[in-house]
Amino acid sequence: MTIAATMGVCFLLLALLKYYLVGGVCKSSIDMTGKTVIITGANSGIGKATAMDLARRNASVILACRDVIKGETAKMEIVRETGNSQLKVKHLDLASFKSIRQFCKEINQELTQLDVLINNAGIFFHPFSKTEDGFESHFGVNHLGHFLLTNLLLDLLKRSAPSRIVIVSSLTHAYGSIEFDNLNSEKGYNRVVAYNRSKLANVYLANELRERLSNTGVTVCSVNPGGVNTMIVRRLFRDWVYRLIWPFIWYILKSPMQGAQTSIYCAVSNELDEAHGGYFSDCTKKQVGTSARDDGIRKKLWDVSERFVGLA
Ligand SMILES: NC(=O)c1ccc[n+]([C@@H]2O[C@H](COP(=O)([O-])OP(=O)(O)OC[C@H]3O[C@@H](n4cnc5c(N)ncnc54)[C@H](OP(=O)(O)O)[C@@H]3O)[C@@H](O)[C@H]2O)c1
Repeated sequence: MTIAATMGVCFLLLALLKYYLVGGVCKSSIDMTGKTVIITGANSGIGKATAMDLARRNASVILACRDVIKGETAKMEIVRETGNSQLKVKHLDLASFKSIRQFCKEINQELTQLDVLINNAGIFFHPFSKTEDGFESHFGVNHLGHFLLTNLLLDLLKRSAPSRIVIVSSLTHAYGSIEFDNLNSEKGYNRVVAYNRSKLANVYLANELRERLSNTGVTVCSVNPGGVNTMIVRRLFRDWVYRLIWPFIWYILKSPMQGAQTSIYCAVSNELDEAHGGYFSDCTKKQVGTSARDDGIRKKLWDVSERFVGLA
């Protein structure tokens, strides 16, 4: 084989691999005029890309952000790109039950209809820290914060049925474990363990909600976005290292818009209804990891979470 032919084959193989890594695409062209969506962590990464797509479909989008200035900057960009001005930024700090309660109080006063809630915000591999209410931050922000948020918006979502709850988890939920005597890293801290635990809790929350909301018209999905080149990844490296390995990262990871496809699919697709919720990856329903199949843990985690957030 000539050098040119060898290079051609290599290029083709690399292009095919990249196509595979990009994963599923939401093919639905559904218009969301008249629909209202809340997206947590919508100022950045997957959340911002999701907001961009839903704004393009004419939805009213509430960007729930802990940093309102970052939220307003994202909003301006989305309005400029989509021409949709029905976007609102609201303050929400998932590391503070007080902030979550205030956010939900305002939403419940202002909205008569909420069609989609997308629990997207998250922290990843943070050094040990605690939320305002004293919980380990991965467990507190990624799980407990969204647990309280969802519960306080549940009546509104039920009244708005058919409606949807989309919970952004991760493939790493499969490596997580829920140890009830170590939920807040009481036995020692490991950031990978803490993140995986919080993402497993996301899947358990979605599955418990699915059961509790059967026959209400509320569809519940959990989502694995895949490996996505967002701030979460960027923060793992020093700036100069990131700049050096950027082509490699670009090649192996999805862009934020590619990573948002499964969240968008779960938010809009008319192939889904209450009975067809579940765990999705690459816009396809998948089996959850074995660690997420224990009904006893699922129920106990709900009860413990209810107590932790002050709902029981
Ligand atoms: N990127 C990946 O490869 C990947 C893979 C699997 C799953 N995920 C999941 O995807 C979701 C989105 O992450 P991303 O990759 O798009 O990362 P990102 O760009 O860092 O976005 C995370 C978002 O969460 C917000 N957030 C963090 N702490 C918060 C708090 N206490 N209250 C409210 N908002 C808070 C961030 O706000 P600030 O901008 O103010 O920090 C940001 O808007 C996360 O749940 C993550 O676990 C990502």
